[in-house]
Amino acid sequence: MTSLIHDIRGAQHPLDRLGRPLHDLRISVMDRCNFRCPYCMPREQFHENYQFLKSRERLSFDEIVRLTKLFAGMGVRKVRLTGGEPLLRTNLADLVGDLTGIPGIEDIALTTNGVLLGNHAVDLHANGLNRITVSLDTLDKDIFKRMSGGFGALDQVLAGIEAAIAAGLTPVKINSVIERGLNDHTALDLVEHFRGTPVIVRFIEFMDVGNSNQWDPKMVVPSRELAARINERWPMFPVSENYRGEVAQRWRFADGGGEVGFISSVSQPFCGACSRARLSSEGKFFTCLFANQGTDLRAPMREGANDAELLHIIRGAWLGRADRYSELRDELRRDAPATKKIEMYYIGG
Ligand code: GTP
Ligand code: 5AD
Ligand code: SF4
Ligand code: SF4
Repeated sequence: MTSLIHDIRGAQHPLDRLGRPLHDLRISVMDRCNFRCPYCMPREQFHENYQFLKSRERLSFDEIVRLTKLFAGMGVRKVRLTGGEPLLRTNLADLVGDLTGIPGIEDIALTTNGVLLGNHAVDLHANGLNRITVSLDTLDKDIFKRMSGGFGALDQVLAGIEAAIAAGLTPVKINSVIERGLNDHTALDLVEHFRGTPVIVRFIEFMDVGNSNQWDPKMVVPSRELAARINERWPMFPVSENYRGEVAQRWRFADGGGEVGFISSVSQPFCGACSRARLSSEGKFFTCLFANQGTDLRAPMREGANDAELLHIIRGAWLGRADRYSELRDELRRDAPATKKIEMYYIGG
């Protein structure tokens, strides 16, 4: 198999060992978060004295921009800023502004828990942010508190979503992690609330990311089951993906009430078309959400590597990539249960 693909400008882009190009870059700009969702950053482990990165250990905006330019040269067209909570990073809108100027980058999005969005939506949009995704698992105040680890308030998140719509960051997407017996009975309320608005609700199957969220397959509600429940109330039909390798499967309501999405990494893995790479806030490059090791780009960059040298490291990591964790989940969990995975908050989902 050839390990290069040509784009329309004739540039050569590397393919990984399974023939997949690199198209999306998810950049974590902040390892801290103002929530403690038990499925991501359980409070017992991420307590007051937990040692997060120091400021100088995080990539600076200049370093992020430099690396993004190199990634764009390798085929990246979409950038998503993540955290932890990305809006905890001071002056984030400035970074957005810098990224919009990079040739090749066509889409810049942000994933946030929404609490600080009301203060930042206008600035982010003015600096070129295209879209926003807000994590919101339920509209039930008590369950919300449990799922955020006791932090934030539902009203702040809803106000953040309104601010994003008003600022023109549409379509706003909602990511809702569903856990059986915890919030699955509130999923239809979310759909009802946002039907007919410029908000697309997407349900995510609870995943075994990281090492601390006590994942158990019994807590996963397969998307098929949830879709059937929604379809009973509001008939819907599947629609084709917006782009190759889209994470969410889309369903549209027959009555014109908009659409919902399902992210089914457990019951229907989508590794085959996975063109996503991740950059942690301290500059490690990961080729899978479930990776157990990354490639350090910060050290060579701070030791004076030139662009060609950095590009060589990035290309090498992509060419060697054979990750497909979700497709192999059962056997990997059986055969190597002790393997440490990277934490979700650190790699940014
Ligand atoms: P769009 O560009 O709007 O389609 O967004 P997206 O789906 O690429 O990004 P988003 O951050 O909204 O992704 C939604 C969620 O899907 C993430 O937070 C993860 O939980 C999950 N997800 C995204 N990419 C991957 C992936 O490569 N593997 C797995 N297993 N899950 C993923
Ligand atoms: N399973 C599924 N989704 C998760 N997220 C965080 N942890 C998990 C998990 N264990 C989601 C968040 C957020 C995005 C970054 O990832 O809700 O929307
Ligand atoms: Fe924070 Fe998002 Fe993790 Fe919740 S899922 S703790 S909001 S990074
Ligand atoms: Fe991509 Fe890894 Fe997710 Fe599979 S499990 S879709 S390879 S990030």
